Order: sequence, then C-alpha cells, then structure tokens
Amino acid sequence: MSEKFSMKTPLMEEYEEETGRLAIWKGQITKDFQKWKKKKEKQQRKELKKEKLLESKVEKERKKREIEEDKEVGKDYEHLIVVENLHKTYLLGTTAVAALRGVDLTIDKGDFVDIMGPSGSGKTTLLNLIGGLDTPTRGKIFLEGRNISMLSDNELADIRRERIGFVFQFYNLLPQMTALENVMVPLHFSGKLSRRGKRKKAMDLLRLVGLDERAHHTPSELSGGEQQRVAIARAFANDPAICVLDEPTGDLDSKTGVMILNLLRDLNKKGATFIAVSHDAAVSEFATRVFHMRDGKLTHEGKISGLKETEIMELTRKKEMELNKEKCKTHIYKYLFTSQGKNEIKISDIRSHIPRDIILNLPEHFNDILEEIIEDNNLKAKIQGELLILQ
Ligand SMILES: Nc1ncnc2c1ncn2[C@@H]1O[C@H](COP(=O)(O)OP(=O)(O)O)[C@@H](O)[C@H]1O
Ligand SMILES: [Mg+2]
Repeated sequence: MSEKFSMKTPLMEEYEEETGRLAIWKGQITKDFQKWKKKKEKQQRKELKKEKLLESKVEKERKKREIEEDKEVGKDYEHLIVVENLHKTYLLGTTAVAALRGVDLTIDKGDFVDIMGPSGSGKTTLLNLIGGLDTPTRGKIFLEGRNISMLSDNELADIRRERIGFVFQFYNLLPQMTALENVMVPLHFSGKLSRRGKRKKAMDLLRLVGLDERAHHTPSELSGGEQQRVAIARAFANDPAICVLDEPTGDLDSKTGVMILNLLRDLNKKGATFIAVSHDAAVSEFATRVFHMRDGKLTHEGKISGLKETEIMELTRKKEMELNKEKCKTHIYKYLFTSQGKNEIKISDIRSHIPRDIILNLPEHFNDILEEIIEDNNLKAKIQGELLILQ
C-alpha cells in the first residue's frame, strides 16, 4: 500500500459507511468513490445555493420591515434631520479613504446650519449623504423621521425631488434655457401643476430672489450672483423640507457672496431651513448654528475654529485676527469719511469696501466692530437692522 493513501479522509469514511464499499483498493482511490464524490459535491453546492437564497430573502424581509418601522416613526418625528454615527469610506483602488468617521448631528426646522472646514475634511460627503445623493457605509440619517440611509436608488430619487433643494458652487443651470425655464424644470418632474401654474410659481420664485426682471435671460446673460439666485429659486421649486448648499459663495466675489448670504438669511427668516458647507467664514456670520469639521468628524458647535490647534497656532491666528480688526477699522473710518452728510448707510456697503481676506478673518462679528467704533468715538450713530443710522 502506498504511503499516500494510507490515511482515509472523513469523506472516504462516509462513502464506505454509506455504500459498504472501499474507497481505497490496493493503494488506489477507486473510480466508484470518485464518482460518488463528484455527485456529493454537486449536491452540496446546490444546498449552499439554496441556503444563500433563503438568507438573502430573510435579509430583504428584514430590511423591508425595518424601513416600514422607520416609516411608522416618520409620522411623528422630533427633529427634521437626525444624523447618527455616520461613516463613509470610499475605495480608491485598493485604498480605503475614510471621508466621514462618526458624525452625529440634529437639524430642526428653521435652522440655518453652516459646517465649516478645510478642503478634504468631508463636508461635501456629509452634504451628499444628507441630500440623498449617496448612501453611508455605516450609520443612519432620518429625514422627517424616515430613515433614508438604506433606501433604494429610486426611493432616494423621489426624496431628492420632493423634499430636498440643492445649491452648488457652480450653479449647474441648463445653459440653453432661460432663468424661468430653469426654475420650471423641477416643477415638470413633480407634475403637480398645470403649465400655467408652473410658470406662475417659477415667476413667484424669481421674484422672491429679486430676479423677476431677468426671467427671460439665459445663464450666459446673467452674472455669477444672478445665476446663483436662479439656482436658489430652482432649489425652492418643490417646497423642500431642507435646502442643502455646497460652497454657495465659493465662486463669487465677496460683495456678491454677501448678497447671496443676505438672500439666504431673508429666506431663512421666512422659514426656510438650510444646511450649508463652506470654507468661507462669511457664511458662518449668516448662519444660526455653526459646526466645524475636521478629518471626517464634526468637532463642536461654535464659531471658534480648531480643537486640535496647538497653542502657538492659536496665538498666531488670534494675533492675525486682531491685526485684521485694526485694518478693518481703518477701512471703516475711510468709508465713513467719504460718506459724510448721509443719514443712513447700508452696512453691506461698508462691508463691501473691506478686502475679503480681512472680512473673513475677524476676531468678532463685523457689526460688533462697528459698535466699537461708534462707542470709542462717541459717534451719534446706531445700528438698525442692515443700516447704520447717523443722527
Ligand atoms: N468619490 C470619491 N472617491 C474617493 N474618495 C473621495 C470621493 N469623494 C471624496 N473623497 C475623499 O474623501 C475625503 C473628503 O472629501 P470631501 O467630502 O469632498 O471633502 P470637502 O468637501 O470637505 O473638501 C477627501 O479625502 C476626498 O479625497
Ligand atoms: Mg467639498
């Protein structure tokens, strides 16, 4: 007997028990055993397939049940949006990029949330998940009480169309259509209004963003700020629960950016809910809640940046900001001097005369600096809303 087959495998033993024959005869594996083995393996594969099918059915059922349960919760929800332990990992070739690493966040109706953070910190990823443009690797997102983190592509498309408005850095308007037609696009998809109703609603929205007189212009005939206004009007076409904005002022000069932010603030005061992400500090001045993002995590709510900042970095930044404050004051004095004789000055006009990099890096709110100037100089002036009133 050859050494090779002196040991019987468990399968051989099973064969011998089942058939009463020998699996090895004169040191050779018998043909009959080989045939039996093949048959057995085929049978096993079949059973495995059946098992897997059953498993996936059970899994599908479970998911369906879970979604149903979440829908139930949706009837009576506490927060407009709840984000729970959100993770997103992208695969770049064989490298895993952890873009989000456990984000928790709640947003209520009427909030204007701004998430600030450096490039690559995960802002767009977070916004895309909240906007239903992508699904998370782990964690949950509830929109109006409904868990949207594991819906099918079709279900997500419905949610995007009906509940979410999008505004991007580069407007994304259709170039061959007029402003009015661009705003009408989402109305076509929802199909709730007559043609006349759609036109009227689109016109109302353009009026809301102060662009009704430009309704029949195409994007190339509009300035960047105007195009962004059209994009904002379009975002509101289907009365979304929330409007998400990715770097809404990213492509605009500071003056136009502030105009857009003023518009957003007005809309917010009228009840619109916003979540914006940006690395433009100006956005945070208009937001009601500010978060900071770094390395895929939300650090804290507040307007001071950088939890991981070293002391030296912090000192340098503070010094720079103080310096900017002084520069800012000089610009304000200059502007006030040229405006002598006026009874009131728009605060946005003063702001627009100060270089962007100064405005973006101030140690305090612009209006507080203005207040300080008034106080220090005993000026007969006061801030009233958007105006500086001079007596
Ligand atoms: N589709 C993608 N595939 C692979 N990596 C991505 C993808 N999108 C973003 N990332 C990576 O995820 C991280 C976060 O990106 P992003 O959310 O775009 O940040 P931000 O908007 O703050 O600049 C970055 O490291 C980026 O390179
Ligand atoms: Mg981004």
